[in-house]
Amino acid sequence: MYVILTSKPGQFRSEPGAGMEPREHYDYVLCGRVRARFVVAELQAASRVRIVDEADPAAVNEVPSKFLPSFERLEQARGELETLVRFGDLDAQLVRHEPPAAPVAPAAPATPRITFINNKERQVSAPANSNLLRVSLREQGGIPFKCGGGVCGTCKCRIVLGRENTDAVKPKERKILDEAQLAQGYRLACQTFVHGDIAVAW
Ligand code: FES
Repeated sequence: MYVILTSKPGQFRSEPGAGMEPREHYDYVLCGRVRARFVVAELQAASRVRIVDEADPAAVNEVPSKFLPSFERLEQARGELETLVRFGDLDAQLVRHEPPAAPVAPAAPATPRITFINNKERQVSAPANSNLLRVSLREQGGIPFKCGGGVCGTCKCRIVLGRENTDAVKPKERKILDEAQLAQGYRLACQTFVHGDIAVAW
């Protein structure tokens, strides 16, 4: 399944949630100016899109992916984009481009290394504060998942090394994991963010 995420420069931007993998990036250019940005993302699990108000980044809305129009095939999503940007005879273009480079923060923390123990100890690097399930999906780490939203418990995993390099346990995780499991380092990968080296098993 594919969905289209829309951003309007200076107004708002749409950010994919865990379980949603960006595949193609487009600029909508009208009379020489970029009026909108589109990302065609592959939906690998139920997810949420973060809509960030660019004038006030604290104003964030999360929209469940089930409310977005979805397309079985990539070609269908591309066709929908063409339809969206067709405005009579206006000088409008849809320009495909590479993903924008991530901004380089001056004091960026070290790049965490993540070891997926059950996957032949596969080791990958990820930007600091990455979501563990998203890294697993992107790098084929192999952590099982279904909902991507902290509900089903499928992504239950144990942080075997580097527990101190993960963020705080979320209320959603406490609904699924009991105190004994939390004490042993169990987490839900879709709710866990990583800022240093870890090793994870499931
Ligand atoms: S994938 Fe369902 S709780 Fe994480």
